[in-house]
Amino acid sequence: MKILLVEDSQTDAALVQRYLRDDRDPHEVRVVRRFVDFAAVVDSGNWDIVLLDMTLPDGEGLDLYRRAREVAPTVPIVILSARADEELALAAVAAGAQDYLLKGHVDNVTLKRALRYAVERDRMQRRLENGLAELERQRANVIRLNAQKNELIATLAHDIRGPLTAIVGFGEMLADGSLERDESIKAAETIVRNGQRLATLSDDVVALSRIELGELELDIEQFDFAALVAEEVEGRLTQRPIRFMCDIDDTMILGDKRRLRQSIDNLLGNAVKYSPSDTPILVTLHGNASSLTLDISDQGIGIPENELAKVFDRFARGSNARKAKIAGTGLGLFLVRTFIERHGGHISVRSTLDIGSTFSIVLPRSGAGLSVRGVIVLAIDRSVREGAAYELRTRGIRVRELTAADELATLDPAAVPFAIFVDARIADGDRLRAMLPPSIQSIPIVEIPPHFLGDELIAAIRENAE
Ligand SMILES: Nc1ncnc2c1ncn2[C@@H]1O[C@H](COP(=O)(O)OP(=O)(O)OP(=O)(O)O)[C@@H](O)[C@H]1O
Ligand SMILES: [Mg+2]
Repeated sequence: MKILLVEDSQTDAALVQRYLRDDRDPHEVRVVRRFVDFAAVVDSGNWDIVLLDMTLPDGEGLDLYRRAREVAPTVPIVILSARADEELALAAVAAGAQDYLLKGHVDNVTLKRALRYAVERDRMQRRLENGLAELERQRANVIRLNAQKNELIATLAHDIRGPLTAIVGFGEMLADGSLERDESIKAAETIVRNGQRLATLSDDVVALSRIELGELELDIEQFDFAALVAEEVEGRLTQRPIRFMCDIDDTMILGDKRRLRQSIDNLLGNAVKYSPSDTPILVTLHGNASSLTLDISDQGIGIPENELAKVFDRFARGSNARKAKIAGTGLGLFLVRTFIERHGGHISVRSTLDIGSTFSIVLPRSGAGLSVRGVIVLAIDRSVREGAAYELRTRGIRVRELTAADELATLDPAAVPFAIFVDARIADGDRLRAMLPPSIQSIPIVEIPPHFLGDELIAAIRENAE
């Protein structure tokens, strides 16, 4: 144990040092005589404990203790005093001192024991404090998530109400039979459009809950991506002039048709929603042997530059969109990014405020690394495991939870994860790496940080994905 003894009396210091002499368990004791000396050295050593005399030439009593605590907030302090002052002892312990020992009442056995216990108590206290801080952090997180859910429900109710009112209203007019033929067609079109909006909304909410539960699975098939885009564009031509250009012949791709349709639908829906009704939308598809790139450009309200990085986050909405009172839940782009990344693809945006936006998705055609590239969270402790998995899933990452290191050996080498997140208490990285199938031994193994904030986990993944 490394002990810093702050004691101005040479005799007392010598006595303490004699008590602490122990051949089986040697202690390292350093003596300083004044508070200023203490303050000067306390940072430099890795002290296990400070033994503080209550009367120094440059300080005494509770005030001295408080100053000592201030300069050394992380080292346990035990007070050594000549004064049997019960009140002072209590006050010192209440202020965080680990113990209050009386000179003349300790000997070689009790002093060593008192110090050992003090160090142990201090460790326990810090663990508790950390635990409490973690709990508090999680509580704040739950409150924030709950507020987001409430907001989602309110927005959804509002988003459902609008289309529903239109459907019922125009439906009643049609049922009246009083509309002219032209008007009837318009009414029917309005009903279809609003019905589609409701369907999209419902798909989005279902997809969100799938993602959060870790149940989003892709249904992979081969199909013509250009044909899918053309269909989606066609469906929106009544709303807006949209030009679709494709400069390659072969546009076959391996992917989940339903999720990719949902992605295009969301991006086109945004382009229509966030741009004036008299401006065109341009959709282009190009590609090469290994990937396809789809760009969707509008001449709309754009996105403030400092918000660009956030638009793909769950529930994120642009401040200008909010201000303009354009309805939305902030789910669409989160889902699109999740779907595209699950395909091993990538989404990005370029935008200028009040000029327009271009969203680009790049999709691998072969399905290489498709859908299976998630991460693994390995932790025995359920709250650590589920907490980290939840944070990752709500940021769109596919997560597989493992509860024992042995399970790593059974990983499918074809399903290479981006990374393995591991509770440091299970095993060190090298031992884990040795347990992996040889073909995936080079993937990053990342320790779950003690306060696993999702954004830090994500940063680690994106770094490794580059
Ligand atoms: N084409 C666009 N032009 C301008 N801003 C856009 C565009 N697309 C998205 N945004 C901004 O990004 C935010 C997030 O978009 P996202 O599609 O995720 O949600 P939303 O459209 O608000 O709601 P919904 O869940 O109904 O799609 C929008 O609120 C808007 O501020
Ligand atoms: Mg949207």
